[in-house]
Formats: sequence, C-alpha cells, structure tokens
Amino acid sequence: MSRKPIIAANWKMNIGPAEGTQFIESFKNLIKGKDVACDVVIIPPFTTIPSVQNALGGCSCIAAGAQNVSQYDNGAYTGEISTSMLNELNLKYVVLGHSERRQYFGETDAIINSKIKKAIAAGITPIFCIGETKDERLGGILEPVLEIQLKGGLKDLTPEEVSNLVIAYEPVWAIGTGLTATSKEAQEAHSFIRKVISDVFGADAAAKVRIQYGGSVKPENVEELMAQPDIDGALVGGASLKPESFAALVTSA
Ligand code: G3P
Repeated sequence: MSRKPIIAANWKMNIGPAEGTQFIESFKNLIKGKDVACDVVIIPPFTTIPSVQNALGGCSCIAAGAQNVSQYDNGAYTGEISTSMLNELNLKYVVLGHSERRQYFGETDAIINSKIKKAIAAGITPIFCIGETKDERLGGILEPVLEIQLKGGLKDLTPEEVSNLVIAYEPVWAIGTGLTATSKEAQEAHSFIRKVISDVFGADAAAKVRIQYGGSVKPENVEELMAQPDIDGALVGGASLKPESFAALVTSA
C-alpha cells in the first residue's frame, strides 16, 4: 500500500497576514523547480488564511488548513469558527486534538470526536493529533494512552472515514523542546497506532490512513523519520516558521 506523504506547517499563534504573504512568496521561490513528492499544507492562524491563499494564487500543489473548528453550527457561540466558514474559504484540512488544545483549552476526547465528525460531514480532512506526556511514557502507559485517545476521537466513524483521515502522532514531550523521538521510538508508536486502527476499523483502513510524526521535526531529522515504514509525513511547528527551513523540509522529505 503506497501512501502519499503529507507535510504540514502548523504556525500556531504566529505569523500575521503581512508576514504570511511574504512567507508564501519566498517559499514558492525556494521550492520552484524542486522535486516535491509530498502533499504540502500550510496551517496559519485564522486571520492569516486569506492572505496566504491570495499569495498561493493558482498554486494547487500547496493546500491551506485551519488550526481548529467549532463543534457547533453557526449561531450564538462567541469566538468560534464553524465548518461552513472554513468551507467558504475552501480549506481542505483542519488540525484537531492538538495537545495544546487539550492542555490549555480543556478539549476532551469527546469534544474532539464531535469536531472530527463535524469536519468530515463538511468535507474537510481532520489532521487528528494524539500523543503521550513524558510522565505517561516513563510510567509505561504509552500504548493505553494512545489507544484511549484514538478510540475516543474516532468513536462511531466508519472504516472509510478513517481511511481518509490524517493522524498526527505528537509526543507532548517532543513538542517545541528540541527533543525528537528517535526514529525507532516514533516507528514503534506509529506501528501501534496502525494496529489499533486495524483492530477497530479493519486492515484496509489501517493500510490507507496516513500517520504523520510531529515534535521537533527539522530538515536534519526528517529523512530518517520518514524512512520508517509507518511514518507518512510530518506536522511541523517551529521549523515551519521560516520559509527556508520549511522549504528544506519539504524538498528533503
Ligand atoms: O503541531 C506541530 C507541533 O506541535 C510540533 O511543534 O515546534 O516541536 O515542531 P514543533
């Protein structure tokens, strides 16, 4: 089963509209004429999305995504952004379940599950993040933690819906710390994730679903990580904030 790799830039709460335009212009120049063999997604803060899309112009090889979406439809929900609003911008991806949303904004597996269903119903592909803390890994409960997050976030989905998702394994201790999981640690976790998907949704869904690694990915370590059989790309934070390093990443992957 060949799965097309996917590399996504999660800018988090960085890069406003003016800087977003400059970033895309430089990035397009940097990758011009280079061999980019993966899907590339830029995921800016909401207010930067239109300027990124304008700067992308007709460049269909780079997609834009959102960092979050509401589980509710349009209405009296101050501060929320709905899937229909993401559709108006023609966004293809939305990050859901990121550990920063779980940790700072109280998102539970049940909330994440509602958001995933909402995104799928709107035709937007969730990039569904899971991952353990350092204490959980050291305490020997890595696998149960991943299994609970997976089963909770994907509850009631069909095998076909799961096949079309992107899952991002992001060990919390590796995010923004400079500490990357070794390629062996990452591969073991990805292989476990695929096994859980196979047990719950069947072998076909497990073979098709793309699983990204995230956590201090940089141009120097991306090749080794992506050479692992169950790693299908990367969700990149810090190293996606400069066009040079993100371009190096997508061209070396
Ligand atoms: O979603 C990407 C992420 O959390 C990883 O961040 O800065 O460690 O690449 P970073």
